[in-house]
Amino acid sequence: MDVRLNSVRIDREPTTPMACLVDGFGREINYLRLSVTDRCNLRCFYCMRDEVTFLPKSEILSLEEMERLAASFIRLGVRKLRLTGGEPLVRPGVMGLIERLGAWVGSGELDELTLTSNGTLLAGQAVALYAAGVRRINVSLDTLDEYVFQRITRREGLADVLAGIDAARAAGIAVRVNMVAMSGINDAEFDKVIRWCGDHDCDLALIEVMPLGLAADHYLPLDMVREHLMQRWQLTPVDDHTGGPARYWRVEETGCRLAFITPMSHSFCAECNRVRVTCSGRLVLCLGQRDGVDLRPALRASEADVRLEREILSAIARKPAGHGFASGRPCAEIRPMWQLGG
Ligand code: 5AD
Ligand code: SF4
Repeated sequence: MDVRLNSVRIDREPTTPMACLVDGFGREINYLRLSVTDRCNLRCFYCMRDEVTFLPKSEILSLEEMERLAASFIRLGVRKLRLTGGEPLVRPGVMGLIERLGAWVGSGELDELTLTSNGTLLAGQAVALYAAGVRRINVSLDTLDEYVFQRITRREGLADVLAGIDAARAAGIAVRVNMVAMSGINDAEFDKVIRWCGDHDCDLALIEVMPLGLAADHYLPLDMVREHLMQRWQLTPVDDHTGGPARYWRVEETGCRLAFITPMSHSFCAECNRVRVTCSGRLVLCLGQRDGVDLRPALRASEADVRLEREILSAIARKPAGHGFASGRPCAEIRPMWQLGG
């Protein structure tokens, strides 16, 4: 059966027989994180330098190319799509893309369309996001203190982020707050943020900072943090593991969930179900490895997607076993996080 959805067509029949995204280690890849822009209106020190050179427009995929790319991944078996950045909402026209991708949730081609956002522009888009089919969103919020916010992001905007989260909740979108845990920066605020998330009906994920650039000095193992938190909060493990790196607990006092994401201290590579594509069309098989494939030539060579899908399939077959962060190699040299959206 063929389904024509807006401008891009999803044929149920794969272009390649045996088409299915399973890597060389038997892991089924059903989750794509697509970065729609490398630009951001913040400059979080653990992610970007203040003076950063963004990619020239000619290297960035058009929104139409992103839609085609997403359609190919879906045809090959992807069921969950997350748009990332930089900050996805700074890209002009992105709401149109979100509406077109959201139609695939409506028609059952996709199980879920989500976003990772810094929240600064969310207040103005929350209702439209819900209308497009977005039901969950991750919002970065590392602090509730304006001074600390400026220290981390090198910009102002905490009030906008908080308003964005409230607008998303009011629109009916579930929010998970992502807080990168950093010693000497926001490690005195965990209780405050847990309480705030409880009051605003959001889940919270504490994320171990990855040793990129200036963040290397602020590494804080989350096992230690959890031990401390367990002395003050009643945490019950939640058994709703979905293949992602987050391990969830219920905070009984607030009713909300608390996750710990520990790329540095615990590897979750064995269960990895995801790949990333940068806004320039580079398929990144693993956050911590150099290996990747530039899909842009195949996208631009032909309107047909046969070559594109063949390249995706052969790349996935080569997905590495794991990120190798434990080797101590600084991953800033591998690929800057702001081109990958976390
Ligand atoms: N360590 C951990 N997480 C990071 N992110 C960006 N840089 C880092 C890093 N060095 C994640 C944050 C942010 C998202 C966009 O990417 O969770 O919210
Ligand atoms: Fe922007 Fe997110 Fe990077 Fe901060 S972490 S600079 S909000 S992309």
